[in-house]
Amino acid sequence: MAGTLYERLGGYSVIAAVVDGLMARIAEDKRLAKYFAGHGDNSKKRLRQMLVEMICQLTRGPCFYLGRDMSTVHKGLGINGSEWQVFITHLIGELDSFAVPDEEQKDLLKLLNSIKNDIVEAP
Ligand code: HEM
Repeated sequence: MAGTLYERLGGYSVIAAVVDGLMARIAEDKRLAKYFAGHGDNSKKRLRQMLVEMICQLTRGPCFYLGRDMSTVHKGLGINGSEWQVFITHLIGELDSFAVPDEEQKDLLKLLNSIKNDIVEAP
């Protein structure tokens, strides 16, 4: 695990805090909040935990992502490119607020970009 992006980001506690902040920003942004309307507290917690584990695994941390694969879970939602961009902008806002350096941010965004086509369905 030494030298992994997971470690360079600050490990589990930073990833978890970034995801918590990201979910709070999404909940307040009506361009994205509509996707999570009707999700109860437990569903939101489950989603939060899935996101943490997905990012932990993607960055080569000590986690196993046990959720559904990205194309299965997002298929039919109709997420478009500008909504994707809003999500990424909120993520960057959170990374900045935890003082994650630019290099690490760039590497994380590159990884997320590699799964973008599984998530975004509309132009
Ligand atoms: C605009 C961007 C996105 C939107 C609107 C969105 C929306 C959603 C929604 C509505 C669900 C719940 C679906 C359901 O339970 O039926 C979900 C699940 C999930 N999403 Fe996204 N998503 C976005 C981007 C991402 C990204 C970038 C990642 C990965 C880093 C991600 C990872 C996940 C995970 C791990 C789950 C849970 C999988 C499971 O329940 O098994 N999403 N997403």
